[in-house]
Amino acid sequence: MRIEKNFDQEIESFLTRYSKNGKAIDVNFRRMIPELNKADRATHLVHAYPAKLLMHIPHLFLNNNILSKSGDRVLDPFCGSGTVLLESCLSNRNSYGADSNPLARLIASVKVRKYEIATLLDYYETLTCSIKSHSSERIAEIIDVDYWFLPTIQRQLAAIYIEIEKINQQHYREFFFVCFSNLVKKVSLADPRVSVPVRIRSDQYKDGHPLKEKTLEIIRNQKSLNVKNKFLEIVAANIERVDSFNELQRHHTSSGIIVSNDARSLTGTSLKNQNVDLVITSPPYAGAQKYIRSSSLNLGWLRMTKGKTMREIDQKSIGREEYRKHEFLRIDKTGIVAADRLIQEIKKVNPLRAFIAANYLEEMRHAFRESVQVLRPGGYFVLVAANNQVCGRQFKTQEYLAEMLQQEGLKVKFRLVDDIKSYGLMTKRNKTANIITREWVLLLQK
Ligand SMILES: C[S@@+](CC[C@H](N)C(=O)[O-])C[C@H]1O[C@@H](n2cnc3c(N)ncnc32)[C@H](O)[C@@H]1O
Repeated sequence: MRIEKNFDQEIESFLTRYSKNGKAIDVNFRRMIPELNKADRATHLVHAYPAKLLMHIPHLFLNNNILSKSGDRVLDPFCGSGTVLLESCLSNRNSYGADSNPLARLIASVKVRKYEIATLLDYYETLTCSIKSHSSERIAEIIDVDYWFLPTIQRQLAAIYIEIEKINQQHYREFFFVCFSNLVKKVSLADPRVSVPVRIRSDQYKDGHPLKEKTLEIIRNQKSLNVKNKFLEIVAANIERVDSFNELQRHHTSSGIIVSNDARSLTGTSLKNQNVDLVITSPPYAGAQKYIRSSSLNLGWLRMTKGKTMREIDQKSIGREEYRKHEFLRIDKTGIVAADRLIQEIKKVNPLRAFIAANYLEEMRHAFRESVQVLRPGGYFVLVAANNQVCGRQFKTQEYLAEMLQQEGLKVKFRLVDDIKSYGLMTKRNKTANIITREWVLLLQK
């Protein structure tokens, strides 16, 4: 779907309104760009990802000549599954991403790659024959494989994996691994309604409960599932998405690449000091979304956990929750007065939660410093963030992060505020967290 709209007027109007009264402006992104609602646009839907950014937001901030121009460099230091990278390419900007989750880096790279459709179709044909005739024993290295997958499913998944591995062109192999990964959770015994895997059980609900029959149906379906056909369906749909991406990119020269596995190390990469024109990002929250745990089944089947524990893989995730006791004995000041006051209050009831919050802000400061360092003077920074709750208290993430960026020398140009209903995977995850309901989009300038 080609959308030619230019948003110069909207951006100008926000800048003027905010400069007059400094008040946050209420917006509704879905109403502003209805063409994108429910859109299967280019490669956005090749793979699910928790807390994916609403594509409308980068679309608005990229399709105008005020904040960036064709050919400019756009960075998302927390790129996740690559929503910003893809929208940047579609608006003919070159995009750069970083993410600590190896699954996110894989999905994002595949999303912005120009593949030859004929080659994808050749591999599709070959795989159709080879996976159907392949009868493999299950792969034993996956942690708790019997807990999460029925034996017949394990064998089919193993057959698909082994046949994809034989593809010798790495970029094409990665495309098929993304299709494979998108299948993994759907054919597992994990409850599809929850982001972090929780095993579905037939005795989960009492007789007569509205979800009892639904749960039994999921379990029944698993037993007769043809995983290989389901995989081929996903591949076919994703090839169509690549085709539509190629079509939209036909007259563009833009590209997208992943430069780092940590937003805190950007300056040593192909990004030089001050050569980025625009940053657009939606950072993680303190203890609110477990990206690595949500991806654990995928990471296992993709061999991305090989020889490592989940904890080791999670080490670089900002906002992580698991710390050893000796790590959280000391809580340093964050430099944000309101946050420090709140953290001291939280410490009295829950020292671990207080440490998670303080450490989150410290690590975010480090990450922001890197992004600001690579941003050119006069360049813009779009921050998408919400507030959340820690131990029943409101933790004003967006305010703290905005203050931090201002301490790094950026100036707020406007604030927008919108509903967050589309964050379907943001579920209530633990007693101390809360559902995020409103989100802020801030425009700042260096
Ligand atoms: C809100 S999500 C971004 C979602 C993304 N905008 C999308 O549309 O898919 C935040 C991301 O930050 C990543 N992250 C956490 N710690 C990080 C770090 N140290 N460096 C880079 N990325 C990190 C998480 O893995 C997660 O993918």
